[in-house]
Amino acid sequence: MINIALPKGRLGEKVYKLFAAAGYEFAGMLDNSRRLVFENKELDMRCFWVKPFDVPVYVERGTADIGAAGKDILMERSPDVYELLDLKAGACRMAVAARNDFREDTEKILRVATEFPNIARSYYSGLGREIDIITLRGSLELAPVLGLSDVIVDIVETGTTLRENNLSVLTYIADLSARLIANKAAYKFKGEVIDEIMRRLER
Ligand code: PRP
Repeated sequence: MINIALPKGRLGEKVYKLFAAAGYEFAGMLDNSRRLVFENKELDMRCFWVKPFDVPVYVERGTADIGAAGKDILMERSPDVYELLDLKAGACRMAVAARNDFREDTEKILRVATEFPNIARSYYSGLGREIDIITLRGSLELAPVLGLSDVIVDIVETGTTLRENNLSVLTYIADLSARLIANKAAYKFKGEVIDEIMRRLER
């Protein structure tokens, strides 16, 4: 049996539709229910909804053979998995943003609010810039508006949230989208089936 972890939420629904279009359907997956595990006996596959941040954990530990995770989450968690395919769903970018009137003062430690402390740390250490990381869970845009931080490291899709809060992008750090990932041992033993899934998703 192949176990598949998909991220619960908007991105996961897009990814599930790719799986369904590729011939991997799981009855009830898109019903608005609280069920989390779905099985397709004919395919001998099981699919489950997990919190987006947790997909790499399920795949790395082998509870899921494959999964779909945002590149942001892969960059943040650096799981020991194979990244097989760019699913192209949920394209957006990781950016540094600040208030429109922000002026960089290299004499001061930069206060950086983010949901992605490892990404922020590695970006600024590459620049040799000393920072103070403030880890938040969502609505990052509030931090510079209220003076909690100087900048944010966050996901930008359309740019609407930044614009509506008088913020703008200083730098783009990375292009993001959903990726198909696989457990390393599972790929060794179920490689043929996983390759077939990958080929069909690619088409
Ligand atoms: C994400 C991200 C930004 C927003 C960007 O938040 O953190 O806030 O989307 O999208 P935009 O550029 O199209 O405006 P999400 O809606 O996932 O909610 P969150 O703030 O709770 O993380």
